[in-house]
Amino acid sequence: MLRIWDLPVRLLHWLLVLSIAGAWITSSRTGPLHEWVGYGAVAIVGARLLWAVKGNAYARFSEFVTPPRASLGYLRQVLTGAAPRYLGHNPAGGAMVVALLACVTLVGLSGWAATTDLLWGYAWPVQVHAALAWLLVGLIALHLAGVALACWQHRENLVRAMLTGDKRAGD
Ligand code: HEM
Ligand code: HEM
Repeated sequence: MLRIWDLPVRLLHWLLVLSIAGAWITSSRTGPLHEWVGYGAVAIVGARLLWAVKGNAYARFSEFVTPPRASLGYLRQVLTGAAPRYLGHNPAGGAMVVALLACVTLVGLSGWAATTDLLWGYAWPVQVHAALAWLLVGLIALHLAGVALACWQHRENLVRAMLTGDKRAGD
């Protein structure tokens, strides 16, 4: 077995999941609880961006963020069942990582903006915030579908790997 996901990557992943679940659960009430849980999610994204500089090779964005053309090419291979296995994020997964982190940031920014004196009291800033939150839900659904498909195509448990950090070497 090889250590792929180091402790900060795993910890930040599961804390991000918890904080977004927490933001959803608290979103029906206006007030500091929802806002601070939301800021927590944004802080986790910030920590993950910092770790992209200090972490191991699999944590570095330069190792798995590819041009869109490569991500689309990989998706095409997935559809034909010919997608190669990656130890780190595959090119489609890498694009999803960027999309998820960017979307959490935008949801947090729009939530903050809705609480400013300038925008407080208008309906549309909260509507924009809610629309972005639903976009995030859509991305999460695609993320889970992608993880499930990769688990099946490569006969490995990626969720366990995100818990233990370890993946088998070779094909
Ligand atoms: C709020 C929901 C979620 C968000 C925002 C999210 C976000 C992310 C991010 C940003 C990464 C990249 C990890 C990194 O390099 O730091 C990732 C990877 C991963 N996530 Fe999630 N995740 C969510 C829910 C889940 C859930 C519920 C599961 C499991 C059932 C899961 C399983 C995984 C796995 C297995 C990977 C590694 C994928 C690979 O092997 O390339 N995620 N996720
Ligand atoms: C990732 C984090 C977050 C998620 C998933 C999230 C999600 C949501 C959702 C689904 C709503 C309900 C919108 C509606 O009424 O239709 C909401 C409302 C709201 N959120 Fe967030 N939010 C997040 C972060 C934040 C942050 C960081 C702030 C501000 C500091 C914030 C401020 C608000 C405000 C002011 C409302 C309106 C509450 C109301 O009056 O109904 N949110 N959020």
